[in-house]
Amino acid sequence: MDTFGRMTEIGHERVCFHHDEATGLRAIVAIHSTKLGPALGGTRRWHYATEEEALYDVMRLSEGMSCKAACAGLPMGGAKSVILLPEPNTEATEAEAKAMGRFIDTFNGDYIAAEDVGLDPRYIDWMATETNHVMGGETVSTGGDPSPFTAAGTFNAMKACLQHLGRAVDFSGLNVAVQGLGHVGMDLCRRLHEAGANLLVADINSSVVDQAVASWDAKPIDPQSIIECECDILAPCALGAVIGEHTVARIKADIICGAANNILVDPARESAAMVDRGILYAPDFVANAGGLIWLAGLWLGMSREELDRRNDEIEQTMIDILNDAPSHASTWEAAMSLARVRFAQGESKEPAHAG
Ligand code: NAI
Repeated sequence: MDTFGRMTEIGHERVCFHHDEATGLRAIVAIHSTKLGPALGGTRRWHYATEEEALYDVMRLSEGMSCKAACAGLPMGGAKSVILLPEPNTEATEAEAKAMGRFIDTFNGDYIAAEDVGLDPRYIDWMATETNHVMGGETVSTGGDPSPFTAAGTFNAMKACLQHLGRAVDFSGLNVAVQGLGHVGMDLCRRLHEAGANLLVADINSSVVDQAVASWDAKPIDPQSIIECECDILAPCALGAVIGEHTVARIKADIICGAANNILVDPARESAAMVDRGILYAPDFVANAGGLIWLAGLWLGMSREELDRRNDEIEQTMIDILNDAPSHASTWEAAMSLARVRFAQGESKEPAHAG
């Protein structure tokens, strides 16, 4: 399918390519929707095998951001950007970040950038020297690393899953497998350990695995097999597309609830297959909304109290979605349905960013 075809199908407003001659920056901004407000979404720095892969990623991720904002009840749209690295692990430079900042500025606030995989607060602050439309820095812009908020929200979503299954909302003695011990995964492990869970962990970076073993007595698992390990809750917190058509049949977890974006290769297909297998899937864009709530909430001027309240609300939103799921094909369809209702409510109002 060509790009216009896909934009029409998924409902994108704008997909913009940029090349900066001086730095060689190649980037794409995909604005899925500004119906509910300006669109906040992270910038991912990644080496993609093909341009097509990058375009697919940014379009899927930006759609997810619209659904995430809508389900979190935020008056924000959905967008995402990707920086296409020429080689894996290409070092980030201030010049590249500034060029990206100038690209973001061309959207006049319809797009607000933030952290995603491959970016840190320092990079955000470099971008912020060229545009006011970024969140998540520590010096030039504000918000800092949203990951602890994301981890807290995912933990709240896990509580909802336990409650939905009629189990005690008590992590002591539960076996929780965490894939990916990055900014979110590590903080989630800390929370789970403090709540009494037994941790099974995997990461392609052995030093963070060693850290989890030393800090929380976590059991290391081969990254190739963590998705299929015996556990109560599986928490994918690395990259997306880790559960596909053939993986579902091999999952032994009762609950899948993680922070990664786009955990399922084909969400409609895999989420329905999980219903058939009796696995409870917590839709990722609901479970991982904490970071968006933090940065978008700060952008909108919310107090710390309000931000905490909204992050706590992820638990109730997830319970409502899981309870509504039997009238849909899957939990994912139930979450999409909630997002669609919120889009429709937003469409009947004046745009939040009018003027
Ligand atoms: P990160 O880059 O800090 O951590 C990712 C970790 O996953 C790294 O330690 C990496 O070595 C590991 N990893 C990569 N491939 C792996 C594999 N095949 N097996 C095991 N481990 C692997 O990223 P961060 O910020 O922790 O985000 C994690 C996920 O959560 C991403 O999908 C991100 O899009 C999503 N997310 C993050 C938010 C945030 O606030 N940071 C907000 C919402 C979603």
